[in-house]
Amino acid sequence: MKIVIFGATGTIGQAVTTLLSEQHEIIKIGNSSGDYKVDIGSKSAIREVFEKIGMVDAIVSATGKVAFKTFDALTDDDWELGFKNKLLGQINIAQVGSNYLNSSGSITLTSGIISERPIAYGLAAATVNGALEHFVQAASLELPNKQRINIVSPTMLTESVNKYEDFFPGFIPIDGKCVAEYYKRSVLGIENGQVIRAFNGA
Ligand SMILES: NC(=O)c1ccc[n+]([C@@H]2O[C@H](COP(=O)([O-])OP(=O)(O)OC[C@H]3O[C@@H](n4cnc5c(N)ncnc54)[C@H](OP(=O)(O)O)[C@@H]3O)[C@@H](O)[C@H]2O)c1
Repeated sequence: MKIVIFGATGTIGQAVTTLLSEQHEIIKIGNSSGDYKVDIGSKSAIREVFEKIGMVDAIVSATGKVAFKTFDALTDDDWELGFKNKLLGQINIAQVGSNYLNSSGSITLTSGIISERPIAYGLAAATVNGALEHFVQAASLELPNKQRINIVSPTMLTESVNKYEDFFPGFIPIDGKCVAEYYKRSVLGIENGQVIRAFNGA
């Protein structure tokens, strides 16, 4: 398969790239590094990249920024970061990418555990993750040419513990190589419109 990975240079993206590159051709997209560089906030920039890459069999997005602040502290700029980057950025990838996706191809986006397990400072992330999950569920009913779309919702990665552990007290981290398997399930399986939870049910 020819698979394009947005955010391939990040913590989750690298793990997904390592796993899927064992058997597939991977095109790595980042913001400042990778085979191609793009700002996912711009539909035209994403289109330009796909014009260079051509048709693909799967699209993975492991990217997206949000602000971690309290209800009182979140500014307009903080909300805009989450909406423009993580939410609209990934919607842009899906909407533009669908035109360059082969029949029966898949799109896999990324949300996160905070939509279902609240944490302090997680309001913007919960809002954006929830919106993305509902986008995927609804978009799955409209995609053309038997294309599929799912979203992986990971808990904190082991590789990110140093960065996030104060935000996730008592959360059991998951190794990147395990998270990558959930993306593989979305890419190679038959599921459509699913929130694929990369965390235990408790
Ligand atoms: N890490 C975790 O524990 C964890 C847990 C649950 C959910 N998540 C979610 O998973 C996603 C990825 O997290 P991560 O920790 O892997 O992030 P990360 O290590 O910070 O990597 C982010 C990736 O996205 C790219 N990127 C950033 N801004 C971009 C833009 N405007 N346009 C295009 N690409 C852009 C970066 O490219 P450059 O490197 O070139 O800048 C990098 O490849 C996020 O949505 C995060 O909320 C992460």
